[in-house]
Amino acid sequence: MTEFSSIGQKLGGPSGIQELMEDLGQALSSDPAMRMLGGGNPAAIPEVQSLWRDRWAELGADPAQLDRTLLNYDPPGGSPAFREAMADFLRRTCGWECAAKNIVVLPGGQTAFFYLFTLLAGQDGKRKIVFPITPEYIGYANQGLHPAAFHACKPLIETRENNEFKYRIDFDQLDLGNDTAAVCLSCPTNPTGNVISHDEVMQLRSMTRERGIPLILDQAYGMPFPGAIYVDWQPLWDEDMIVSISLSKLGLPGVRTSVIVAHEKIATALANMNAVMALANGNIGQAMLRPLLAGDVLPKLAREVIQPFYRQRAAFAAGLLHDLLGGKVSYGLHVQDGAFFLWLWLKDLPITSAELYQRLKQRKVLVVPGHYFFFGLDEPWAHRDQCLRITFSQSPEIVREGLEIIADEVIALTHGK
Ligand SMILES: Cc1ncc(COP(=O)(O)O)c(C=O)c1O
Repeated sequence: MTEFSSIGQKLGGPSGIQELMEDLGQALSSDPAMRMLGGGNPAAIPEVQSLWRDRWAELGADPAQLDRTLLNYDPPGGSPAFREAMADFLRRTCGWECAAKNIVVLPGGQTAFFYLFTLLAGQDGKRKIVFPITPEYIGYANQGLHPAAFHACKPLIETRENNEFKYRIDFDQLDLGNDTAAVCLSCPTNPTGNVISHDEVMQLRSMTRERGIPLILDQAYGMPFPGAIYVDWQPLWDEDMIVSISLSKLGLPGVRTSVIVAHEKIATALANMNAVMALANGNIGQAMLRPLLAGDVLPKLAREVIQPFYRQRAAFAAGLLHDLLGGKVSYGLHVQDGAFFLWLWLKDLPITSAELYQRLKQRKVLVVPGHYFFFGLDEPWAHRDQCLRITFSQSPEIVREGLEIIADEVIALTHGK
């Protein structure tokens, strides 16, 4: 059989993100009994769904616009009109001094990060992307073209009341050497729901500025949309930062559209890469969103619908898990600052989280085992096999059933049953 190149083996072989997406797709299409607490699908929020249905109908009812959308390739960096409208929107709602030249549209945040890491760290292992807090988003894990392209830092663990904890950047250990190409974090963080403080962002800003490298902030769950963030957060951008914004958690993962806001040099390079990889973006997402960028529909939706929805779901899921586990096993739950995950630390688990994942799958509950999120960490750390990511964007009934099974399994395992 044909041999694959080393990069072919890396990208074409199994990976955490592929397993996650595969499990999700399989269960969605052939196993309706599976409780989907694993993936990153946004919740079906009626107001949000009805907005997109209306936009879809408007687009369909306007033959000239529909033809333009379906019949044409956009330029590789996105529709010029969309980029203008997006820059206006960000100036108005976030106060960022950006222009269309700083905006590049790409086929989803996942692709955007592959381009960014390739552009900045490359394939020779001489330049690194530094992740100041591990665990970080599973989707980055296999995107480094060289094994030394990623370096992740072990965080401090701040314990809180009621079995809660929070990861903090250990600035004493954060050393940005000459080989650092960029610093990157998702905020709110997937998988933990962590949001770092404004002071911590500013400290990262001054460290990266001093080194002349960009700070990349992945806002897949944050600002300006979908706004699934439950603590104070000031949306920040300047030309030394790279911010990634996606339409996915705004209810549109199917359109595969995201936006990077960056210095013109970086935005242009990303658009050029997109020409090589994809020719152009799908333009339906841009057509759906563009008219909404002019008014305040999106900030209002984020503030009045999406944020309260996830916040309430977060409180429900966390409260239930505390009720189920409290006093029965030794555990920690990461504080809920944003996003739509519970990050559960099972301190006395007698098996690895990967084995627990398999057991739960047998019992028709899909979660994501924590070890996938600790890529780029060079030192051994038992903690990486003790955590689970549990998504709470499904209906409360599914979340309840799933959490009950998780608790049952964990309690039985911990007490040797
Ligand atoms: C933190 C983070 N970044 C990026 C992505 C990629 O999203 P998309 O490619 O749908 O824009 C995700 C998806 O779950 C995510 O959680």
